[in-house]
Amino acid sequence: MELFLVGAGYVGLTTAVGFAQLGHRVTVHDIDAGRIESLKAGRVPIFEPGLEEALRRELAAHRLAFTTDPTPGAAVEMAVVCVPTPIGRDGLLVTSAVEAVVARLVADLGPDRTIVVRSTLPLGGPDRLEAIGAGRAAARPAIVVNPEFMAEGRALADFAAPPRVAIGYLTPADRAGADRLAALYAPLNAPLILADARSVVLWKLASNVFLSLKIAFANELARLADATGADVTVVADGLGLDPRIGRAFLNSGPGFGGSCLPEQAAAIAVEAARCDVEAPLLSVIATANTTHQEQLVSTVERLLPAGLRKAKIAVLGLAFKANTDDVRHSPALIVARGLRARGARVVGYDPVANGTARGADPELETASTAAEAIDGSDAVVVATEWQEFASLDWPALATTMRGDLVYDTRRTLAPDVVRGAGLRYVGLGRAGVPATPR
Ligand code: UGA
Repeated sequence: MELFLVGAGYVGLTTAVGFAQLGHRVTVHDIDAGRIESLKAGRVPIFEPGLEEALRRELAAHRLAFTTDPTPGAAVEMAVVCVPTPIGRDGLLVTSAVEAVVARLVADLGPDRTIVVRSTLPLGGPDRLEAIGAGRAAARPAIVVNPEFMAEGRALADFAAPPRVAIGYLTPADRAGADRLAALYAPLNAPLILADARSVVLWKLASNVFLSLKIAFANELARLADATGADVTVVADGLGLDPRIGRAFLNSGPGFGGSCLPEQAAAIAVEAARCDVEAPLLSVIATANTTHQEQLVSTVERLLPAGLRKAKIAVLGLAFKANTDDVRHSPALIVARGLRARGARVVGYDPVANGTARGADPELETASTAAEAIDGSDAVVVATEWQEFASLDWPALATTMRGDLVYDTRRTLAPDVVRGAGLRYVGLGRAGVPATPR
């Protein structure tokens, strides 16, 4: 099939490559001419494992093309909208970019064509799309929503082997478009759920918010474990053995970050208020995350004999999680700012996100290696679960530190190795394992 995809961001590029790999021809449009030029040359402007290689293969096979021309060619059967929906001042996702693109596509495409909105929408999104379509009700293309469930760092694998695919039609008349999109996904052998768009949009929001809820729950358990001498890993593993609960997303850490979970955890509370729905549970998830991050900063302060003022702290990992250079709402940066606010000097290090981190926080000092960040530090805070931190030469690093605290918020390091180096290892939620002083 001939596809036209608007928005060459992380979701758009992964989706374009995913459909190209299924044998379709995808032309990707973006207004950013520089980005389109790089992509034509096979250069991907984001760090996503495997994406650049896959994109180059699809370019070479002529299944992928890039253009700054916003008008889909006459052969285009389906247009996929992947433009951003950032959070607005009112706390809801802003749909103006999606609406503008859909309005143009409604005018450009014939009635037997399909517009697929893959951007994440607020709950009122389907109403707005319906209003745009109503302008050409008699002969407009079908409009469907198809939210993505791809996690950064593993997005191509998530596209290729999804546990489910959600397709929502705006009105019963759009059902034919949903069927056409379902046919595209059929080779993936995933459960395809076709339903009304309002249910699908709430489902997408609920999916991210439920993941946030699990993490926030695990984080409060971790602090409870610290206070009672329990080991949170035993608790999470035990809980996870109950198939009604499941082990995924019960890893406590420095809080949930990224472009999706924090904003949507906050947005659902605003959505509930907008709809006059009393939802006390939904309204605390975002706050629980912030409280947890403040508590982590206080813990570091408590663990340092002389406090944070004038302390040098190395923060290992700046991305919001491992395997990405994305620092949006990164817990590492939030904790780093919290430490600085209490008088510490923070030097961060990330294998791939140093540049994006400095872009997001110009006051952040970064080092080009973990050893350089750790040199002369009073404490090391591990904030992102990059594997390379576990294999650092801790005995050698210990000799360069001024203090002895290693606070592992992700439980990424081997406690015995760090303690064997004469350091004071403290893992979040692992207080059941007594810390040995230097
Ligand atoms: C998330 C969802 O997982 C995807 O399904 C969804 O498609 C995507 O948002 C989106 O809406 O676009 P992503 O933002 O890439 O994907 O990140 P996650 O892997 O979900 O991680 C989010 C945060 O939670 C990270 O900071 C991560 O470190 C943290 N996390 C995750 C934990 O602290 N503990 C866990 O057990 C799991």
